Amino acid sequence: MKKIIITIDGYSSCGKSTLAKELAKELNYVFLDSGAMYRAITLYFLRNHIDWNDKDAVVEALQNISMEFMYNRETNACEMFLNDENVEWLIRDMLVAENVSEVAAVREVREFAVAQQRKMGNGKGIVMDGRDIGTTVFPKAELKIFLTADPSVRVERRFKELYERNPNITIDEVKANLEMRDYIDSNREFSPLRQAKDAIVLDNSNLTAKEQLKTALKLAKEKIQDLTTAAAN
Ligand code: CDP
Repeated sequence: MKKIIITIDGYSSCGKSTLAKELAKELNYVFLDSGAMYRAITLYFLRNHIDWNDKDAVVEALQNISMEFMYNRETNACEMFLNDENVEWLIRDMLVAENVSEVAAVREVREFAVAQQRKMGNGKGIVMDGRDIGTTVFPKAELKIFLTADPSVRVERRFKELYERNPNITIDEVKANLEMRDYIDSNREFSPLRQAKDAIVLDNSNLTAKEQLKTALKLAKEKIQDLTTAAAN
């Protein structure tokens, strides 16, 4: 069977990573959460007091950042390692969420992350989720999904997720953060969040994780089958 690249883009908290992870598992593909890379870079900048508006400081700092995804058998998921430290939990922190979109809008940061994302997709057989994966990182990807969900559903989902770890968090805080990130991500100069022209829109506001997986899996299998047949002829 032919191996393809599947991209899943969309606004904050619409379940991209959940879908990408499950889809990759079903297809025996590699799952890559590009947002984790921007979050890890943000964590590094915050910890080291790097001013991301200072281009020279950013370029220098990026030279000291190494990021790696490593598989954790217990959680059955890939976790982000920043300079050999497991930061998978730390990068989900609200402080990172509050700053990540500003950091991700910096041109040098994007070039740095995109170069690594492309390298990871070299061998195909990959599902990558983010904001610009179908438009900029892999414009020729064989299957592009643009995931959407009602804003209120997205806020509710992310609130539940964060509340489990931090009962002090408020729904208003989560709502404000999602709105701010969506605004910055959609309006930045370099590689803004856009639906690729050839993307298939999947609205999961009223779908369970299982239902959305079923729909996406069908699309992926059809695409793989078509391309495999075409290659054989
Ligand atoms: O919270 P959620 O899971 O929706 O976001 P994420 O995928 O972890 O991404 C965090 C932030 O990284 C986004 O709000 C964007 O600012 C940035 N990002 C990006 O600019 N480009 C990507 N391909 C992925 C994430």
